Amino acid sequence: MNLLDRILNKVVSYRVNHIVFPKEIAKKMPIYCSWHVKWSGIQKGSIKMDTDQIYKGMIQIGFDRIAEGLLGGRRSIVSITGNGCLIFRGKADLSQGISICIRDEAQVSVGKGFYCNGYFSIRCRKKITIGDDFIGGWNVSIMDSDGHPIFDLNHGFINPSKDIVIGDHVWLGAESRILKGAVIPNGCIVGLGSIVSGKNIKENAVLVGSPAKVVKEGVVWDRGDIATIEKAKNLANISLEEPVV
Ligand SMILES: CC(C)(COP(=O)(O)OP(=O)(O)OC[C@H]1O[C@@H](n2cnc3c(N)ncnc32)[C@H](O)[C@@H]1OP(=O)(O)O)[C@@H](O)C(=O)NCCC(=O)NCCS
Repeated sequence: MNLLDRILNKVVSYRVNHIVFPKEIAKKMPIYCSWHVKWSGIQKGSIKMDTDQIYKGMIQIGFDRIAEGLLGGRRSIVSITGNGCLIFRGKADLSQGISICIRDEAQVSVGKGFYCNGYFSIRCRKKITIGDDFIGGWNVSIMDSDGHPIFDLNHGFINPSKDIVIGDHVWLGAESRILKGAVIPNGCIVGLGSIVSGKNIKENAVLVGSPAKVVKEGVVWDRGDIATIEKAKNLANISLEEPVV
């Protein structure tokens, strides 16, 4: 990142913090964003910090944390209309190319340790709650409404927006889609390209396919890089195989 980028990032971040937060929070500068992020509709209260630990740069938005080799623009967008609100309950890192769109009266709340890769998208008209220690892969999309109404000819409107609840320590694989009413419990993994639309009641499960179904139960996952783990395993094997002298 060159000097000009750094200056522009600081200027935009200063402005955003002072627009959305009350003075005592704004002066701590919790948001550090790239100047490539387009902010739309934000006002006092559009973003809230629901944590006692507020420190400089704890919410990073729009930086190049994307998976190696992933192509795409640097532009990100955060659009919060009217009384819509984005709540951070701790440290968060939202990569470049993300898109967050929160409509009037809607609420998105994310837990501490939130991380999402490039081109992750949230579209919220009602309520989306995500627990602590979440990771989302690239091109994941979460939307709690269908965007257009459907009417049953006899019974009227049939597709209202529905809350989405994602538990603690959930990993959404790249390109996965989470639709209205989805409930994903603690510890679950959603496979690449899978579509979750219902309620999975099992914790620590692997969900795959469209619609996503449980294919494994009783699993745990780790944020670590798989290459590091495999390397460590190989090193362990090598040293075990070496003759003791
Ligand atoms: C979800 C995932 C992590 C599970 O890995 P795993 O536990 O090793 O699962 P397996 O490969 O043993 O697959 C289990 C079953 O689910 C199926 N399956 C796995 N992933 C699938 C997917 N994304 N869509 C559809 N089916 C899938 C397999 O074909 C297999 O079916 P079978 O039992 O009938 O043969 C992995 O499949 C995946 O999606 N990886 C990509 C994660 C990702 O997006 N990473 C990018 C960085 S966030």
